[in-house]
Amino acid sequence: MTEGEESSPAIRHYHEQMLKLVAKGFFNELINYGVNEAEVLAVAGHLLDNVMHKGGTTNKAVEYYNKLFTIKDVQDQWATTQRLTVHNLSISPIAPGHVPQIATWLREPSIQESFYPKFPEAKDLACYFLEPTREYFSIFRQQHFAGIIGAENIDHESGKLEMRKLVGDPDMHGKGIGKRATFLFLYHAFFIRQFRKVYLHSLDINVRNLNLNGKFGFELEGVFLEETVIQGKRRDVVRMALASPIWLELFS
Ligand SMILES: CC(C)(COP(=O)(O)OP(=O)(O)OC[C@H]1O[C@@H](n2cnc3c(N)ncnc32)[C@H](O)[C@@H]1OP(=O)(O)O)[C@@H](O)C(=O)NCCC(=O)NCCS
Repeated sequence: MTEGEESSPAIRHYHEQMLKLVAKGFFNELINYGVNEAEVLAVAGHLLDNVMHKGGTTNKAVEYYNKLFTIKDVQDQWATTQRLTVHNLSISPIAPGHVPQIATWLREPSIQESFYPKFPEAKDLACYFLEPTREYFSIFRQQHFAGIIGAENIDHESGKLEMRKLVGDPDMHGKGIGKRATFLFLYHAFFIRQFRKVYLHSLDINVRNLNLNGKFGFELEGVFLEETVIQGKRRDVVRMALASPIWLELFS
């Protein structure tokens, strides 16, 4: 059996896990919209109606960002200027001068509440980023400082780290900054630093984040039920992970 043939059942398995996750998020959203549990069955029926009308679209292949990016697209200036660039977006180590802007972004409750656990208060942020178990990068869209992406809980012994990301200005969301930054971050973790595994925690309602991660090959590792409280409501937290062989196979 070739390497490609061996991998495809694994990738299908990841996709099935993602579908379960999306279904759970969708269910929670329905309840949020005031649909009661009995009516969820009616919604399921309507979903099936859509399948009947659109015949065939459900067979669409799993989509990954490997059509947008490959490893060779990265302009790698890490060894000289500690900068990685793809499609006009760069990351480089966070500069102390960026911390006040980050604190301003995090002051917005909807941004701060996207993170589990939350970032510390503004006065503690500068020290937080300097801790040796963390490594954060600033994201630049052309020359404009647009957000941060970084590693938490860096564990050299087992070769794993936790990823967190923020596109600071909500008006800049949905413009492809998050996915390009994530690609560069994974390039740094897997290709430069040779880590084995990147994982993350996300609220189950953070659909944009879940979509983005799934298209990089992240798989569901587990769901922490009612793990946190956001605006008075108990929320599930999802843990997803990506192993370097999967990412390298997808993006080489
Ligand atoms: C999550 C976040 C980093 C994504 O960055 P972004 O620049 O907004 O995302 P992108 O434009 O790169 O879009 C990535 C994917 O999100 C999904 N997406 C975009 N807009 C969406 C929307 N309105 N609803 C659902 N999914 C959406 C899409 O799958 C998109 O990929 P596609 O364009 O290839 O289909 C950003 O929204 C953010 O900073 N949010 C607040 C902090 C946060 O939630 N961080 C994650 C916790 S670790």
